[in-house]
Amino acid sequence: MLPLLLAAAVSCTSRFNTEDPFARAKWIGTSETVLYSDFLPQYLISADITITDGRSSASLLMGGNDPRLMDADLNIMGVENDRDASYIQVELDREFKRVYVYRTGYTPEDKPGKVYQSFKVADSLLVDPTSRLTVAVSYSELRIQLNGTNLGQVGVGPLGNGGDYIAYPQLSQIGWLVKKGDAARVSDIEVREARKPNALLYHLDGMTAEGSDQKVLVDPTHGGMPVLRSAFKVKGKEIASATLYATARGIYEVSINDARVGKDYLAPGLSQYNKHHYYQTYDVSPLLKDGKNSIQVSLAEGWWSGDITFGGGNRNYFGDQLAFLGSLYVQYTDGSSTVVVTDPFDWEVTTDGPVVYASLFQGQVTDARKSIEDAVWHSAEEMVLDGHVSDATFGQTAPRTDEYDGWQLVRQADPSPRVFAVLTAQGVTEVRPGVFVYDMGQNFAGIPSITLRGLQEGQQLRFRYAEVLYPDMPEYKGNEGMLMLENIRGAMAQDIYVASGASEELFEPHFTQHGYRYLEITGVSKAPSPADVKGLVLSSVQDFTAHFECSNPLVNRLWENIKWSMLANFISIPTDCPQRNERMGWSGDLSVFSRTATYLSDVDAFLNRHMQAIRDVQMPDGRMPDVAPIGGAFGGLLWGSAGITVPYECYRQYADTAILDQHYEAMQRYMQLIADKYIEKDSGLMTQGSRGFGGLGDWLGPQNGQLDNSSIWDAYYIFDLQIMVETARVLGRSEDEALYSRRLSERKQEFVSRYLDPATGRFIASEYARGRSGQPIHIQSSYVLPLAFGIIDDDALRAKVAGNLAQTLLRPGTTDNGINCPPYSLMTGFITTAWISKALSDNGRSDLAYRLLQQTSYPSWLYPVTQGATSIWERLDSYTKERGFGGNNSMNSFNHYSFGAVGQWLMAYSLGIDRDPSAPGFKHFILHPEADPTGHMTWAEGWYDTPYGRIESSWKRSGGKVEYTFTIPDGCTATLRIPGVPEQELSPGHYRF
Ligand code: BGC
Repeated sequence: MLPLLLAAAVSCTSRFNTEDPFARAKWIGTSETVLYSDFLPQYLISADITITDGRSSASLLMGGNDPRLMDADLNIMGVENDRDASYIQVELDREFKRVYVYRTGYTPEDKPGKVYQSFKVADSLLVDPTSRLTVAVSYSELRIQLNGTNLGQVGVGPLGNGGDYIAYPQLSQIGWLVKKGDAARVSDIEVREARKPNALLYHLDGMTAEGSDQKVLVDPTHGGMPVLRSAFKVKGKEIASATLYATARGIYEVSINDARVGKDYLAPGLSQYNKHHYYQTYDVSPLLKDGKNSIQVSLAEGWWSGDITFGGGNRNYFGDQLAFLGSLYVQYTDGSSTVVVTDPFDWEVTTDGPVVYASLFQGQVTDARKSIEDAVWHSAEEMVLDGHVSDATFGQTAPRTDEYDGWQLVRQADPSPRVFAVLTAQGVTEVRPGVFVYDMGQNFAGIPSITLRGLQEGQQLRFRYAEVLYPDMPEYKGNEGMLMLENIRGAMAQDIYVASGASEELFEPHFTQHGYRYLEITGVSKAPSPADVKGLVLSSVQDFTAHFECSNPLVNRLWENIKWSMLANFISIPTDCPQRNERMGWSGDLSVFSRTATYLSDVDAFLNRHMQAIRDVQMPDGRMPDVAPIGGAFGGLLWGSAGITVPYECYRQYADTAILDQHYEAMQRYMQLIADKYIEKDSGLMTQGSRGFGGLGDWLGPQNGQLDNSSIWDAYYIFDLQIMVETARVLGRSEDEALYSRRLSERKQEFVSRYLDPATGRFIASEYARGRSGQPIHIQSSYVLPLAFGIIDDDALRAKVAGNLAQTLLRPGTTDNGINCPPYSLMTGFITTAWISKALSDNGRSDLAYRLLQQTSYPSWLYPVTQGATSIWERLDSYTKERGFGGNNSMNSFNHYSFGAVGQWLMAYSLGIDRDPSAPGFKHFILHPEADPTGHMTWAEGWYDTPYGRIESSWKRSGGKVEYTFTIPDGCTATLRIPGVPEQELSPGHYRF
């Protein structure tokens, strides 16, 4: 099959450049496009409409025959259409000089001919009998143009419009409609990518509708994901080493002689590709054989050209063409070598393989009937970057993705996502006839691995993925037990598998990723056995370095949930959530979770990569991004501070001084921006440049309506300054240290005088809280940060403030939307929740920290646990018994780690394995466990793995006494601080007190 390709191997001696392993390699792929129309929510569709009689009309159709609308089990609108009975219709009517939009078959109320919206067309646009009608579709929003002039916009989503809702229409089938009695021609139908350079995906030329009474729908789906291959010769000599260097625009998987190379998934992962593009290296010597060898590479969209971000229109964020770059270096023991590089002459490509389509958000479509050997192969093409990248930006503030200044191909230093664990379905329920729902027992991120037996050739199976099911409540009547997909929003999260008909086949889609606990299979008459339904848990976390266990099983489950949410959201980048059309590196979430994360696993390399991404998209004015990669910022200081806090956590936890060094300039620029622009010059008030919306506050806090945001921004600025003082000191920048120290002490004093009443320690609203200035705001989130960050130097005042925080915990509270909450409720959002336990413990109120921790009513950490949560929820009331999803069906993730930031308190306070403020890393650390003073929790034990070995700590309360045990590993020492025992230094060994 491959004789020609044997030329690919280049024999040489020591010409291989390990500094630049790709010196002679070229990016290769194919310019052929792939289109899977049922999974495309963003596109441009246009056609020429010719009407010569001046009174007829003609329509362009899209979103036709969407399978979701032809099966009542696949939608929640309750529709089940026959063929050609569901579509979106955009009609140009010359007689009435209007463009009409109709929606047919999307909801039971839709009727053919019932106008959904209409737009007036100016006479000047109708001079010519032929008009070009263009519809730009993005997550249910239609923007309509005639002859290049915008007519207007309309949302046609039956559940809502924009990225927060399940997206209708997809492109699906397209066509035209000409009514009886009308005479018109619809021609030159084009489908293009929504984003510049608007690659042509489909062209229907020559087929026209002349005459009347026609309704035509065609399926524009074509192509498949590119597969590349080549062959090379290995000399019959002893191999000293064989290394494959590889990367892709898109994601890739390589096999050599039909064996998969490496264990990575989704390589090269996400980065700000126009700045830093990572490549991977694999030892492939075990896969090689003497003589002829074959190499094959599968490509898929990944983050490069697939959907990214919650906003529509960001497909092709980095480009619209996939490509692979590879270099295989075989070094023989005699000093000679063989080098195989990607180039268009020696490699072939096909788009006719079994993977028909694959997208991270939408899912993977596999046609197992197709064999890669029988595919049509042709020469690969060199894929030149020129002109492929959109010039549009995300949120207008992100750097343009067509700027390749400073682009670097860099060897990846962090671990790629791999299989962390394999889950097996715990059971299956036939919710409706033929609708089989499997419970994986755990909310996780990954892919299914399902053994299918006895299928017919061509049988089509559909897999859908969800975190939760509709509960049995009147609001969800008719859908009880079915997958709740509203919160997956614009991500389709479905896989399709067309069976080969082999007696046993494995469905394991490698080019997508789902966040799910429940898996639905349809298209089979008999449910596959749960034992055959596995889930591969994917994560960049390779193992955990911390453990916590205690007498309270609900807290133990909370700990497990924190770990699961970290696994699911540390996939190449630290994401907010792994399931919906978002999955972005949100800075605020990471900033609060990073201290916990650095205990849970050695994520130094992972976070270093992320800090590079943050630097890559830092704004020219120094502003840190809200999300990285991609960039863009509206969130302000609490989110941007990740650029300060995360490198600091790496330094403190891992003694990684290099990250401070690398990041320092970016940190400085950011701090200067705050000093210059975020603080009002005259008043000194922290407004972040606006007395209206100055940025995000204590996100999702139940009492946010009352909080004075200025104070928490200010507190975080002070925290940032503290970090800068320490960083400047570590880096030996004494002038900077002095500058930041001065600013710090000024800002601390201002904070205290602005927000705290000296007599009572009550929080007083600043001018920022319009209409409430000067009034007390006596809620938990007012007090947490000044206490947790040590902002109040005066002991007496600090004690009063701590007393106020205690009071807000000891009394019932009311959420902004009127829900009454009992004492010891967690009335804090993403930011202050992360710090409340520390604020309490640092001020002698660990009793309250333990009460808060072990509270089970809403809102608390354990309420979700009592409701069966297996991961950390985005909202403390993502689901409640009383209110179901509380109307938050779409903005509601069940896998967001932010509220899991309490994990660091369990390690550093309950077990007391804490960092020494005067020395980074754990060579010397502080041991100050705090047994639950309330007696609710009777014991706790756990460990933390340092580079020196395992630190162990436990405490147990019995008969009014607390017994402690510790292990200090070789190479470490600790300062012990426990009640009733004089402070002392512990050397390596085991201890009992
Ligand atoms: C994300 C959050 C994020 C927030 C900021 C959300 O959509 O899921 O976790 O921090 O946006 O606006």
